[in-house]
Amino acid sequence: MRYATITGWGKAIPPAILSNADLETIMETSDEWISTRTGIKERRIAEVETSDMAAMAGRQAIAAAGKSPEDVDLIVVATCSPDTLLPSAAAWAQTKLGATNAAAFDLNAACSGFLYSLIVATNMIKGGTHKCALVIGSEKLHSFVNFRDRTTAVLFGDGAGAVLLEAVDQDEPTGLLSSEMGLEVGTEELLWAPQSGTKTYTDEAIASERAIQMGGSEVFRRAVTMMAESSERVLAEAGWTSEDVDIMIPHQANVRIIDAATRRLGIDESKVFVNIASYGNTSGATIPIALTEALEEGRIEPGAKLVFAAFGAGLTWAAATFQWGDRVTPIDTYDVEFPASSLTGIDIIQANLEYFGRNDVAATSEAAE
Ligand code: UT7
Repeated sequence: MRYATITGWGKAIPPAILSNADLETIMETSDEWISTRTGIKERRIAEVETSDMAAMAGRQAIAAAGKSPEDVDLIVVATCSPDTLLPSAAAWAQTKLGATNAAAFDLNAACSGFLYSLIVATNMIKGGTHKCALVIGSEKLHSFVNFRDRTTAVLFGDGAGAVLLEAVDQDEPTGLLSSEMGLEVGTEELLWAPQSGTKTYTDEAIASERAIQMGGSEVFRRAVTMMAESSERVLAEAGWTSEDVDIMIPHQANVRIIDAATRRLGIDESKVFVNIASYGNTSGATIPIALTEALEEGRIEPGAKLVFAAFGAGLTWAAATFQWGDRVTPIDTYDVEFPASSLTGIDIIQANLEYFGRNDVAATSEAAE
């Protein structure tokens, strides 16, 4: 029987930090509010583009699997913040990787994008058309954040993570055992960037419409339900109980969402991987970054039973059970190196602050409500 299993993993974490204390200097907020309401202490701000981070994380995943870029025959980049709409971030990343034998495309399911991509790539491998797929989540979300809107600006960050998925033929099931992905109709405007595509307005477009806007508490409520219920269904389909789960790797949007969803699922918090304090919400990149860190920290044993769950703009959701293989250490290593720079997070977002300040100081999600 053909399965698709993860043989490599990697991450690219931009060096520049934007702390809660930094945010206190540019908006009316506090470390106390952000920490207690979200669990976030700091986030990373990238100077390089989404595809640069995608290529770095991807290169590390390829090395960890003991492969070379020419072995890859499929690249899927989960992103909602591509360098350009045309071509895809996957196209730029493929050139930077030198992955000359791959088909490549972006998949935008927002924060559920990595799980959507993992499911799609697994099915392409199981279907027999591809054998070696690089699945990447990469985001430069700060480009779509209005740092004058405290209701969204404190939440998001930049970064990338990746896995290499390879075909294996064996009797024992491995890789994704059960999965689902979905979208709740009629919820498009609960979490969106109105002026980020072809949709135009008769009024003069205001800058804040380029930025992410969100009905925070409504998204929160639905997120808990989506994550808990979809996880329950994939667990049942795999024939696992919550006790069987060795580690859960949820999308990192808000530690309170993770706590509420995992409590409902009955998964002990010691089994839930949480790194949101360091990176905030990196959308499509949260799960592959968390997975990579869980492996680096020795939290995943050979043969471990994993559960993934995510939700995001759409509103999309996805969940999956995953049977890990034997190897939990990389075959080879690749050191991710960002270009040398002395800029801090606050330095890098100056252009953003000027843009929103010049065009639209007052408009925020709060003002819009
Ligand atoms: O991947 C999907 C991405 N999105 C999400 O996951 C977001 C889901 N939602 C959330 O995480 C939470 O709803 C938030 C963190 C966005 C907000 O937390 P909340 O507990 O739902 O707060 P709230 O929106 O009900 O706001 C409570 C108060 C308000 O003040 P008043 O009206 O009570 O006086 C806000 O104006 O907190 C105020 N507030 C802030 N105060 C300080 C909102 N943002 C901030 C801020 N600093 N950054």
